[in-house]
Amino acid sequence: MPNNIRAIAISISDTRNDSNDVSGDILVECLKEIGAAIIEKIIVSDDFDNLVSTLKKHSETANLIITTGGTGFAPRDNTPEATLKVIEKEARGLSEAIRAESSKKTPRAMLSRGVCGIRGNCLIINLPGSPKGVSECFEVIKAILPHAVDQVSGFTKH
Ligand code: MTE
Repeated sequence: MPNNIRAIAISISDTRNDSNDVSGDILVECLKEIGAAIIEKIIVSDDFDNLVSTLKKHSETANLIITTGGTGFAPRDNTPEATLKVIEKEARGLSEAIRAESSKKTPRAMLSRGVCGIRGNCLIINLPGSPKGVSECFEVIKAILPHAVDQVSGFTKH
């Protein structure tokens, strides 16, 4: 079903590349399945400053950025902090739903610190880095995404 989503998928990892980015590929497939237009899929390192500038730059062109990876407890996991640095409004309902629903599948869902929020006319969503994590978490939010993006874009007020 067509909708107004113009999405960028960002894989965040120090080790992923074009040939092993399974989670990024799954994320793109998930977005295509709901009818989103994919502007780009990129892979970036866990470097905090680089993440902040990447999120800022792409929030100018996309109305939805979904990241995968870097949300855990490891020293280089910087995705939530970089996201919090760039968003102007937090969208806790999304991150709360993701963790609550995911926890029914695996207790490891508690280990994702992913956040969601809005910068300008762009909704930014952090998903975990594993292929299973991406598909399970996307499943939780996919039905609400078109309406959420319409609101963020100013297409609808309700
Ligand atoms: N959520 C779901 N639904 N399914 C999963 O398999 N993996 C967890 C968690 N969230 C997982 C999940 C694990 S094992 C980790 S370490 C954290 O996400 C953080 O992953 P990341 O650092 O790759 O983002």
